[in-house]
Amino acid sequence: MTTQPVVKRLALASRLENIPPYPFVARAERIRELKAGGHDVIRLDIGNPDLPPHPAVIEALYNSAQNPANHGYGGYAGKPALRRAFADYYARRFGVSLDPEREVLPLIGSKEGLINIGLALLNPGDVVLVPDPAYLTYSRGALLAEAEPYRVPLVPERNFMPDLESIPPEVLARARLLWINYPNNPTGAVASKDELAGIVDFCREHDILLCSDNPYADVTFDGVRAHSVLEVPGAKEIAVEFNSLSKTYNMAGWRVGVCVGNAEMVNALLRIKSNVDSGLFLAIQDAACVALNEVGKDWIAGRNAIYQRRRDILMEALPRLGLSATPPQAALYVWARVDGGDDVAYSEEALEEAHVSVTPGRIYGPAGRGYVRLSLVIGETRMREAIRRLSEWYTQRGG
Ligand SMILES: Cc1ncc(COP(=O)(O)O)c(C=O)c1O
Repeated sequence: MTTQPVVKRLALASRLENIPPYPFVARAERIRELKAGGHDVIRLDIGNPDLPPHPAVIEALYNSAQNPANHGYGGYAGKPALRRAFADYYARRFGVSLDPEREVLPLIGSKEGLINIGLALLNPGDVVLVPDPAYLTYSRGALLAEAEPYRVPLVPERNFMPDLESIPPEVLARARLLWINYPNNPTGAVASKDELAGIVDFCREHDILLCSDNPYADVTFDGVRAHSVLEVPGAKEIAVEFNSLSKTYNMAGWRVGVCVGNAEMVNALLRIKSNVDSGLFLAIQDAACVALNEVGKDWIAGRNAIYQRRRDILMEALPRLGLSATPPQAALYVWARVDGGDDVAYSEEALEEAHVSVTPGRIYGPAGRGYVRLSLVIGETRMREAIRRLSEWYTQRGG
């Protein structure tokens, strides 16, 4: 018996048609094929911390999950204790005071918040100013909200700060929202408080909402201390900041993030989210409180020292790999210029011939052409093996 498909013609929504597939999906599929063919692929293309969370966090999850009362819905705005823990973290870490009831909203990982804020605040035709290069979600969020991303280049000569004065007046007139991300993925740049203050002033002057994405605030090297945009006096009038436990506490798979800052923007996000999800698992919320309240600076510094050592090993090897870079001060990546300039050819050949996966820079926007991103989330032994393979491959290729 033949069965007819229930839906004869699956027409996608135009907002989805306008969005190319997420590039990491195709790369993951090719890596799966190579692995199935017996190849050992080393992945320097992802931002997934390889080290475990603090043991007290895992124990808190276990203990909380034993309680039968903790298996119901977790609440749209999260537990008061979790909102308080995020507020205490911001007070302790940045000297920023937040009202846990109105200015703090837990997220199921920050990525959903980056998308949902666009659904809450954007109308079709609005312009969203996104850095170039940048984490893809800012422009994808604009497209999903049927707004228009406008790319503002980040160049090394300006410490990868956005050249806001270069935005044409007619674009500025339609601009509703600006994304920033310091410490920056993929460049590793860190913004000073003065640089953040300049961005806040610009948004105020042009009546633009400011969204700061700050998941790498506590992944810094060489004693660098990163800031929150909310440290800038008055920033809360126009800004929210997204943060996450994914990188700070090695909890990427747990999906815990937060949106903090302007109470009206936070409330708009809650209005979207309460229609979309039903909150975080209560045991994860309890464990997140332990991460925020109990995991100390020393644990974070020890973890950062491991990344810093990996960074130094990679930086030393770059010339043999046909790459050059400024040492990143933060985040999980080395943003390296490709000798000869073809990032796509470099990353495809490195994958096919050396079985090392690095990300071509143009995935992050046109300004990423000629760069590749290499991540620091593998152990030193594997990192050295990746370097050995890449340098052999690069030498055979003719340098
Ligand atoms: C700049 C940036 N923002 C947000 C995220 C997403 O973090 P989360 O795990 O909280 O969704 C990432 C993850 O790689 C990132 O690099």
